[in-house]
Amino acid sequence: MRIAMLGLGSVGKGIARAILEQDLGLSLTAVADSKSGRIEPSGIDIASMLEQKERTGMCGTPGVGAADILASDAYDILIEVSPTNAETGEPALGYIREALSRGMSVVTSNKGPVALDYQSLHLLAKEHGAYLRYEATVCGAIPIMHTIESGLAGNTITKLYGVFNGTCNYILTRMAEEGLTYQQALLEARELGYAEADPTYDVKGIDAAIKLVILANAVWGMEKTLDDVEITGIDGVTTAAIALAEEQDLTIRLIGEIIPAEDVLRVSPRIIPKSHPLVVEETLNAVAIDTEMAGEITLIGKGAGSLETASAVISDLLFIRDCHGRRS
Ligand code: HSE
Repeated sequence: MRIAMLGLGSVGKGIARAILEQDLGLSLTAVADSKSGRIEPSGIDIASMLEQKERTGMCGTPGVGAADILASDAYDILIEVSPTNAETGEPALGYIREALSRGMSVVTSNKGPVALDYQSLHLLAKEHGAYLRYEATVCGAIPIMHTIESGLAGNTITKLYGVFNGTCNYILTRMAEEGLTYQQALLEARELGYAEADPTYDVKGIDAAIKLVILANAVWGMEKTLDDVEITGIDGVTTAAIALAEEQDLTIRLIGEIIPAEDVLRVSPRIIPKSHPLVVEETLNAVAIDTEMAGEITLIGKGAGSLETASAVISDLLFIRDCHGRRS
């Protein structure tokens, strides 16, 4: 199966390495970063492409870009992993639309386009007999979409709640463990590269809220936007409040929840018992899925990271290939 990839940052590099190092039956035939691109229908030498990217900052030839790749017939599936824009979704949204309109399936880790335009992208994919998969947009390596769609098939999902932002979880953990102030812990999270380019997306709860919008629209077919989410971030949480909670075997976590029966989408810091399954440490994410037949299922795992996010993208690619995909 021939793969084109738009974006070669941390996630894109993880995907390229996974394709290089594992025998997945996937061939990378086109790739573009923000400054350059290459199209090689017989298959890119990934090791030398990554080496060139490391050395020059460019994966290919200047002047070759996303438009050339999208218009080419060198690929069967598009991986869209360019930087996210939560306000407009662009330019990724346009790339995804273009590929789907050409009948090409798309796998993306890009939260902006999926949160902003899920229903119309979904319809576009259907209209053109293509697939749009986006496991990597919510909770990194945790297979939340696959679990709901396959593992819990036949179940009514009554509620979803959990820790959807690793940066906030890291900050709250460090404040509790080391008595750091919010500012000190945020600085640490930034230095370690966990936070978004603009960390206000993390600490004000917007990143978690975007993930709730994606889940609400994808799992329940709702038509929610960011404005429908009640959001309180962790920027008002003090070390003293956490210390007080800890004295009573409680702690504070930023919890996102969707309760469809009450039309609730909410992100807020919550005081919960330290023994609760959602009290995960550092950058981990955790999601509890309430169902009618299966009861409650809790998934815990890495919510971000190069290879971890690549894992979610690869699982979507293989889903398309194995179940329904075009073959080459
Ligand atoms: N900044 C996000 C987080 C990255 O901390 O969870 C993954 O979406």
